Amino acid sequence: MAVGVVGAGVMGAEIALVAALAGHPVVLRDVDPARVDAGLAHAASAAERMVSRGRLDASARDAAVAAIAPATADDALAGCGLVVEAVPERMDVKEGVFRALDAALPPGAILASNTSGLSITALGRFTSRPDRVIGLHFFNPPVVMALVEVIRGDDTSPATVDAATTFVSGLGKTPVAVAECPGFLVNRVLVRAMTAAYAAAGDGADRAAADAAVVAGGPAPMGPFALGDLVGLDTLDHIRRDLVGAYGDRFDDGGTVAPLVAAGRLGRKSGGGFFDGPVESGAPGEAEQAVADAYYAAARDEARRVVGEQVASEDDVDVALRLGAGWERGPLT
Ligand SMILES: NC(=O)c1ccc[n+]([C@@H]2O[C@H](COP(=O)([O-])OP(=O)(O)OC[C@H]3O[C@@H](n4cnc5c(N)ncnc54)[C@H](O)[C@@H]3O)[C@@H](O)[C@H]2O)c1
Repeated sequence: MAVGVVGAGVMGAEIALVAALAGHPVVLRDVDPARVDAGLAHAASAAERMVSRGRLDASARDAAVAAIAPATADDALAGCGLVVEAVPERMDVKEGVFRALDAALPPGAILASNTSGLSITALGRFTSRPDRVIGLHFFNPPVVMALVEVIRGDDTSPATVDAATTFVSGLGKTPVAVAECPGFLVNRVLVRAMTAAYAAAGDGADRAAADAAVVAGGPAPMGPFALGDLVGLDTLDHIRRDLVGAYGDRFDDGGTVAPLVAAGRLGRKSGGGFFDGPVESGAPGEAEQAVADAYYAAARDEARRVVGEQVASEDDVDVALRLGAGWERGPLT
């Protein structure tokens, strides 16, 4: 089956490579030829990294890169059975893309979005085939990360879920089934835990020591403060605000992140966020242990809600946190 990818940025270029490595002919479409070229170059260098790490041989690299055809118009996608949209996270931009894809692709084709949080149901209703619209949420970087959340909207048909799940498995990735909800699965559980830790820390805990207590006391590979700096505090605060809007005060972070963002402290990408660089932590004391307890209690509570609301199964929650967030075991194990 030919696969289309729309948006040749950070995510789209690697999703195209992942599909090509699995043997699909791929059409990579963006708005202008320079952006498509940049996406192709990104895919080629990601493939090259796999070769240098001994995960791919040179002939497979050449075949995969050659299987990605560049495009700047939707008619090039007409032969695709499935298209993954990976354009910027703005509903107005995605609306235009979904309307255009619906017009350009045969009625049987599946239209998938890599959105991190926009409504799949809403995207589907821009088209004449809401039953064939689904979320395929790859994690960054797609070449490395094994998890894909398969998000069904209100109108997504079981046949579309099955076909998309089979597609993801065929890419060598692990699909988890998620019913649409704000934050989907991994971000919802992780951001809840992070904000609970920030609120618990307030001004009274040493952040580096609190991170150390989280790592020492449970399955997470990184503490919430270092993770916030890695994700980007502006991105995190954007997601968090949406989740406060959707779920209320349990996503309140005690006013921790917004002042940092306002001060231009966005995390590693701006040269500093919670931390200015690598820090040596002292031994966690009572206040830092309380932060770690709040972190894991919030993760467990949100994970239970996800299961209780039938957003995902208990097993899938655990798989998702392991593969999507690097936890040694899931919050419900
Ligand atoms: N970056 C991440 O860590 C990450 C992780 C998971 C999901 N996502 C989601 O993936 C999507 C893409 O994110 P990204 O980080 O790759 O963005 P990006 O900004 O790197 O790339 C977006 C690309 O889309 C192109 N584009 C814009 N409008 C277009 C149009 N109308 N038609 C075709 N191409 C168009 C842009 O030229 C750009 O090349 C977003 O929905 C984002 O939320 C991102």
